[in-house]
Amino acid sequence: MLSSPRSLRIVAIQGSARPNNNTAKALALVESQFSQNADIDFSIINPAELTLHVPGFGVSEDARNVQKMVKEADGIILATPEYHGSYSSTIKLVIDNLGFPSALAGKPIALLGVASGSIGAIKALEHLRSVASHVGGIVFPGPISVARVNTVFDEEGRLLDEATGNLVRSVADRLMDYIQRHICPAHTLEQLVRASAI
Ligand SMILES: Cc1cc2nc3c(=O)[nH]c(=O)nc-3n(C[C@H](O)[C@H](O)[C@H](O)COP(=O)(O)O)c2cc1C
Repeated sequence: MLSSPRSLRIVAIQGSARPNNNTAKALALVESQFSQNADIDFSIINPAELTLHVPGFGVSEDARNVQKMVKEADGIILATPEYHGSYSSTIKLVIDNLGFPSALAGKPIALLGVASGSIGAIKALEHLRSVASHVGGIVFPGPISVARVNTVFDEEGRLLDEATGNLVRSVADRLMDYIQRHICPAHTLEQLVRASAI
């Protein structure tokens, strides 16, 4: 008899702490996509709820908890807004609280960026890719960039643009596909065996 496989753990780091931020609205779509798979344990690290210090001012209890979550994750989503032509200082603060060496080392990482401008979060994602690779993450090609994000969601977070919504949701599918093919083939095989036994 097969023992129950553990859930795959996916952790998203939300790079905005602004009230009603668009990064959180995009991550809500990713969350709804993951929620269709009972084998996935998805959680979002929201810096607005955490006490995180800049380097040199100690390691908070929240930082230790976040490090543990990231270390135990099978895959990571780094979601950033574009601020002044780069990723947010908010997501860098979370990354700086992940330890040195970083808890991101060796983790499959998908990148998601949102921006109000028409060229999207290209610069933010390029810079974030560099940092995520530098700390040892396995960063996927093809980051997802959302342009004119203020037209994609309304104030309440309702999706106004289904095509862009599908693009954002694809982050979840691509991350799962990679993890199942390359990181957890045994887990995938067991799921297939179970499915064929039904
Ligand atoms: C400090 C700051 C800097 C910004 N810089 C840019 C920028 O360089 N390019 C851009 O397209 N939008 C820029 N914006 C607009 C944001 O991309 C937009 O407000 C987006 O919704 C921010 O994501 P958030 O709502 O998740 O914080 C900036 C916004 C802020 C608050």
